[in-house]
Formats: sequence, structure tokens, C-alpha cells
Amino acid sequence: MSLNISIQKTTHPKQKPDANNLGFGNIFTDHMFVMDYTEGKGWHDPRIIPYGSFEIEPSAMVFHYGQEMFEGMKAYKTPEGQVQLFRPMKNIRRANITNERICIPEIDENDMLQAIKAIVDVDKDWIPEAEGTSLYLRPFIIATDPFLGVRPSSTYKFFVICSPVGAYYKEGINPVRIYVEEEYVRAVRGGVGYAKTGGNYAASLKAQMKAKKGGFAQVLWLDGIHRKYVEEVGTMNVFFKINGEVITPSLEGSILPGVTRDSTIELLKSWGVKVTERKIDIQEVFDAAKAGILEEAFGTGTAAVISPIGELKWKDEDVVINNNEIGQLSQRVYDTITGIQTGKVDDTFGWAEEV
Ligand code: COI
Repeated sequence: MSLNISIQKTTHPKQKPDANNLGFGNIFTDHMFVMDYTEGKGWHDPRIIPYGSFEIEPSAMVFHYGQEMFEGMKAYKTPEGQVQLFRPMKNIRRANITNERICIPEIDENDMLQAIKAIVDVDKDWIPEAEGTSLYLRPFIIATDPFLGVRPSSTYKFFVICSPVGAYYKEGINPVRIYVEEEYVRAVRGGVGYAKTGGNYAASLKAQMKAKKGGFAQVLWLDGIHRKYVEEVGTMNVFFKINGEVITPSLEGSILPGVTRDSTIELLKSWGVKVTERKIDIQEVFDAAKAGILEEAFGTGTAAVISPIGELKWKDEDVVINNNEIGQLSQRVYDTITGIQTGKVDDTFGWAEEV
């Protein structure tokens, strides 16, 4: 362990929420991890302090040019009381891929893991144990130079904050209504679509609001060039089961390489299901639906794990998928991933990591 993390415990511990009544991302634990970066000095002063507001100049570069990165992962408690993470190194490696793209100095992988484990350990009593709940972890880095010119910052702050969460969508694991967005795009190749940075999410808000207005939970994103290849659904990766084969868009620079996406592919393959990563034309999805061979469709992401698509609208066409019910395979993927995460299903892949 290379970080020497100081720990200052809160003198005012907060009341913990009712684990059976959790939303997503609106409650925060008692502590947070913080570490600073200064050019020439590197990352320094790793510490765990009470969760709370902090001072930062209004000129800090993150506010103006959005130089930031974030990650999302979860901690769980097994029935035996063991605290564990799910494939944390996948998130940590992706964090440094985002850092590289956004010109933020990388953090040593083992240091980041140590920081995440340290804050989870300090706030482990906050890990909810009700069905479908977990402690969501949000590591993030912001550029802090007080400067209005456009260049990479020379100072940064790295935080890890924690939030006990339930379902991401109010629908939970129930199927959601999605429409195919034709006006706005999320990302293009050469841009930052593969990186987990705030700007991608800010750019998606307009379409999300449009979706809400139309009574949809989210949008299905198409590629920015041909405007016909499926990319993601809302903030999630997307899968279609057509005639027994599971298809998901290949990672070509504009799509986030999701950890749940990767886990889903590995699981399906281990069950002998044919999985193909390739470009998928929206016309093909609707043709399959009309031919009665679009069997299931679902999003994957850390926050919701699996979110089935029950209805898909594109232009004037509206198709219902699997009678607006969660598909058998989607349910099996959900049960297996959440089972491994919470220590209730045998972890044959070695995905769970003890804290
Ligand atoms: C996820 O699906 O895990 C996400 O990226 C959503 C997050 C932005 C809340």
C-alpha cells in the first residue's frame, strides 16, 4: 500500500436512511476521500474527512471548460457480512483512460483502489442490505486552477463520495419506454464518447428532457455520422436479442466501454448464448420487431444493472418488446450479476473483490 491516508472521523454522524426506501444518489455518507494534485509534486495529501462542502474559487477551470472525469461503481455486503466491490480494476483502468483523454494526470491504479477501499471501509455501516440496494461510489477528479485561459489545469482534486442507493429508474427492473432520438447525438468518433466525463452527460440532457415530455424514460442514441447505427440507451449500453442471438454495438470510440456491458457479454458467452459485437442499424431492430424475432432488448449500466426496454418508438413506428415484460435472458443476467455482486451467487469469474 503506497498511500498514507490520514483519517479524520466526523463528530456528527448522520442518521442512516431506511434501506427499503432508497432512491438514487440523493443521500451521502459521513465521509469522503480527497487527494490533491500539483504539477511537479504529483498526487499528494490523501485523506478521509467528514463529507461536506469545500471552498473553491469561481475561476476554477472545471467550472468553465468542464475538465473533469468521474466513475461509478458499487460496494455490497454479503449475507456473511463481507464487504465487496465488483470488478473495481475495470473502473480504475477506465478512469485513467478518461484521464488520458481529458488531459488529467493519471492516478496509480493501486493507489486508486486503496483509496476506494479505504473510504468504503470507513463508511461500511452505510452499505444498505435490502434487496436491490448498494453503496454507490462516485470517484471523480476536477481541474482547480483559478484560470480562464483554455489549457489543461496544473492542479486537481480527486474525491470519492458514497451514496446508499436503490433503483436508478423509478421503474426499477420493470421495462421502460424508449424513443429513438433523431435530432441530437451523444458523441462521435474522435470525440469523448468513450470517456466518462461530465460533458457527455450535459450534452445528453436536452434529449432526456424531450423524452420525459413525451412520456419516455430515456432515448436510444444513434451514431452522429450516419444517424442510423444504435449507440447507447440513455446513459447505458444496449443489447438486443434477435432470433436467439444477442447483439450489442461494437466499441468504436463513441460508446462507453461499460463494466456491466463486459460482464453481460462474458456471462452470456459462458452460457453458450451467441453474442455479437457489431454495428446494428436501427432499421434492422425494427425489421426484427415486425418479423416477431426481436425477443428482448435491455440497457446495462452500473447504476441500474439491467434495464429492460418494453417499448421502442422510432418516427411513427412503435413496437412492444416481449409483451412489455422483462425477458428470461435479461432476468437471468440481472440475477446472476447482482447475485455475484452481493455474494449470493457463486463467483466463478473472480469478479468480486474483498474490501
Ligand atoms: C450508469 O449506468 O451506471 C451510469 O453511468 C449512470 C450514472 C451517470 C448515474
